[in-house]
Amino acid sequence: MRKKIVAGNWKMNKTPAEAAALAQLLKPKMENDKAEVVFCVPYVDLIPVAEVIKGTNIRLGAENLHFEDKGAYTGEISAPMLKEIGVECVVIGHSERREYFAETDETVNKKVKKALEYGLTPIMCCGESLAEREDGITIEKIRIQIKKGMKGLTAEQAKQVVIAYEPIWAIGTGKVATTEQAQEVCAAVRGVLGELFGSDAAQEISILYGGSVNAGNAAQLFKMPDIDGGLVGGASLKEEFEAIVKSY
Ligand code: PGA
Repeated sequence: MRKKIVAGNWKMNKTPAEAAALAQLLKPKMENDKAEVVFCVPYVDLIPVAEVIKGTNIRLGAENLHFEDKGAYTGEISAPMLKEIGVECVVIGHSERREYFAETDETVNKKVKKALEYGLTPIMCCGESLAEREDGITIEKIRIQIKKGMKGLTAEQAKQVVIAYEPIWAIGTGKVATTEQAQEVCAAVRGVLGELFGSDAAQEISILYGGSVNAGNAAQLFKMPDIDGGLVGGASLKEEFEAIVKSY
């Protein structure tokens, strides 16, 4: 059975004190024996949130990392730094990072490898723009992102990766993909994973949907055969996140 995961992506929201308060508020509401819950939070919030969720099943995630261990990369944070403070997962290649911070499939690939080297679970994001969907090249785009992002991994390594399919037009817009659209692309992701790593490995990789997931649409999305959970932005900052987590 594939792992079911509901991950909150807090993005650039919450100061350390606010983050600790939000984690405190959500903590008692996150119990779920069917799905793993992850809080992906800004770097400076990691330590205070780790303190709050200590001893619970909630896993701690970062929103990015650098692909080198250390060195002259002013302003960056490395995998060993994250590992040492108890981070377990890391979002890699979110469309906002690709769009605003010039991340490419090549840097995504380096980051995925570095995360794996340090035993961090990469949540590798992929997704098409509205123009790409309208041009009918959604599946091609996603296949390229998966192939390049996971280039050089063994099947054993690939099984440690979590994929998040997030159509860019659905992120923060309130315009969720239909369950059929989301399922179609997540199935295509599993298809390309099967080509690359074999169908047994592909069956073990969790694929999340992200983009305007909320308490009203989560249950339907999570029921689809190739959707193994969600990467949730806006709604993960509210008590509504409880209902999303409990959609499993
Ligand atoms: P959203 O963001 O849920 O606010 O649409 C999702 C994401 O970007 O991970």
